[in-house]
Amino acid sequence: MNIAIMGAMVEEITPILERVTLKETIEYAKNKYYLASYKQHNLVIAYSKIGKVHSALTASIMLEKFKAEKLLFSGVAGAINEQLHIGDLIIATKLCQHDLDISAFGHPYGYVPESKIYVETSSTLNNIAKKVADKLNINLLEGIIATGDQFINDTQKKQWIKDTFNADAIEMEGASVGFVCDAFGVEFFVLRAISDSADMDAGFDFDKFLETSAQNSADFLIKMLDYIDE
Ligand code: ADE
Repeated sequence: MNIAIMGAMVEEITPILERVTLKETIEYAKNKYYLASYKQHNLVIAYSKIGKVHSALTASIMLEKFKAEKLLFSGVAGAINEQLHIGDLIIATKLCQHDLDISAFGHPYGYVPESKIYVETSSTLNNIAKKVADKLNINLLEGIIATGDQFINDTQKKQWIKDTFNADAIEMEGASVGFVCDAFGVEFFVLRAISDSADMDAGFDFDKFLETSAQNSADFLIKMLDYIDE
């Protein structure tokens, strides 16, 4: 089975590339796709570049061109839920687009006609993550992740996203990847390690903790591959 593993930034996939057997690198649509194997799995690995457009493009290519049958995202996020601290892991039960707004026409935030506010992740993959967390005695929070094309470093904006979407964490790619996978009927999973608290220190914390938190997320994702059936 072909499994797609993606991140948004190079720091998010480098720890994964270091653990797999690289076979070929293919350049397509201004991005690099790494074909690799890990134990029995055939993998396609890429980082999309930051944001919803780039991540939707990369996810679409992984599914359509590289025929991925599952997609796993690994990366970092800003914490909204106060239980989450730097380095902690969260998996998304569902994701939404916090910056999608046609409320001028009476629609709820995050909604456009013929779509939905939240896209749900694979319960099978989430259960595998919970099993791995139990085995390794790692604290893993399950929650709602809000995605938007904004780096949030503002407590008021963070509070608005929490109140409006009941979100636990915030990032810039998960929902767009999720809506692509949902449209193609492909199971997907979003794992994030906290790099900052989306408040006024967020930029500083992000720079300081990006690499270590990205590594935490990648290490966990690699462990999950042992529990995904061929
Ligand atoms: N990814 C990591 N931290 C973030 C933040 N504060 N806002 C948006 N995306 C993020």
